[in-house]
Amino acid sequence: MPATVVVGLQWGDEGKGKATDLLAESVSWVVRYQGGDNAGHTIVLGDEVFKLHLVPSGVLHPHITPIIGNGVVVNPRTLIDEMAMLSARGIDVARVRVSAAAHVIMPYHVALDGAMESRLAGDELGTTHRGIGPAYADRAWRIGLRMSDLLDASGLRMRLERVVPEKNAVLAGTYGLQPFDVGELHELAVEWGRRLARHICDTTRLLQEALAEGQHVLLEGAQGTLLDLDHGTYPYVTSSNPVAGGACTGAGVGPLQIDQVIGVMKAYSTRVGAGPYPTELDDETGRHLLERGREFGTTTGRRRRCGWFDTVSLRYAVAVNSVSSIMLNKLDILSRLPEIRLCVGYLVDGSRSDTWPLSVDALARAEPVYETFPGWEAELSGMRSMEELPVEARAYVDALEEAAGVPIALVSVGPERTQTIVRAGPGEPADRTARMQRTRANAA
Ligand code: GDP
Ligand code: IMO
Ligand code: MG
Repeated sequence: MPATVVVGLQWGDEGKGKATDLLAESVSWVVRYQGGDNAGHTIVLGDEVFKLHLVPSGVLHPHITPIIGNGVVVNPRTLIDEMAMLSARGIDVARVRVSAAAHVIMPYHVALDGAMESRLAGDELGTTHRGIGPAYADRAWRIGLRMSDLLDASGLRMRLERVVPEKNAVLAGTYGLQPFDVGELHELAVEWGRRLARHICDTTRLLQEALAEGQHVLLEGAQGTLLDLDHGTYPYVTSSNPVAGGACTGAGVGPLQIDQVIGVMKAYSTRVGAGPYPTELDDETGRHLLERGREFGTTTGRRRRCGWFDTVSLRYAVAVNSVSSIMLNKLDILSRLPEIRLCVGYLVDGSRSDTWPLSVDALARAEPVYETFPGWEAELSGMRSMEELPVEARAYVDALEEAAGVPIALVSVGPERTQTIVRAGPGEPADRTARMQRTRANAA
């Protein structure tokens, strides 16, 4: 049952887009399973840069069928624009399929997201203002619109007549904002349906048929483990389940159909938005990571908070996702730092703890305990084998692997597809990530 999950192990922006694009070479289907256009996945192909928010990162390969799964919340405007952008750049988007069961982000969701954030003034979550939370809330509330509803004009009208007055009561009554007009929303949504009709279908069935035929499916997560609604730093999280388990509910595959979980992480950490972050740096090193790592949000342009790598959260993320191997990104960003620190535990109220705390209050009080590694000067971006890397860089990768307890199969030293080192060699534990990459390298 060859389904593979790609999941972020930190607070998002680990380089899942690069990982998915790379691994997509050897699969037939790539599926986004949760989140919405809050995600920003960047892929670099030679001189070309693609920034994707909704369309799965496998789309750049002509042999892939890109699927937006039922677990995604879709802003049809973003999807139409993104497909137009790809089309204008020569990418065939006729292949894109969107689950009929995926929920729709409506303009009132976006308005509510912004309004709720401004009311929290000073205590905002720092959402992306894309309407993600309100759309998932309506799904749970069972008043959401699904992609299939966009294809049924009269049913859509009835649903909007039921839900819009409620939304308007909150928007106008609580937040003093302009109400929405049912007729205008209906017209907009019918037009979206008309433009997206040929893409909307039963994607669960498509995937189940593909799996039954033995085809390879890659399930691409957005955000990351520490932003998971259940397993992250609640309430400073997103409103879906980025963890590998979310791939089952968000794509319609069963747990036993997944045989590989590839965790993606970068060689340091970042976080966008509010919430506790024990290893955050507000100093020269933080600025090095921000500037050298170009840590500015793909979706909102915000500066990402930057800090040292945290192995406490890594061990937790490896466990809750049942990670089988890891892709380590952005090792090149650490060049030229005199020393590199690795958080190996916390001090919470004076006591040493090596486990991820359940409460954000405890996490906010956690002081990192560091191990220090020597840095290196050399630029890594042109290196293509572990042997070429400075011995200090190899020692750091080894330490990360030991902390993770699973192999780091791929090491990335630059944003471009080819700036990747396949680490697991012959004789090492059988690992499809590495095998997939070797096949690719041989084919090239
Ligand atoms: P995602 O949301 O997990 O897909 O990650 P983002 O695309 O938001 O952020 C990762 C950024 O790092 C992107 O701009 C990538 O092009 C870039 N990137 C990925 N891997 C590497 C790497 O190994 N080195 C460098 N320098 N940049 C990388
Ligand atoms: P990718 O897929 C990093 C963060 C927001 C905020 C919190 C809730 O590119 O890794 P939301 O708009 O989802 O309700 O915001 O989640 N966030 C991300 N941070 N990368 C992302 O996606 C994110 N998507 C949401 O900054 O803290
Ligand atoms: Mg991103």
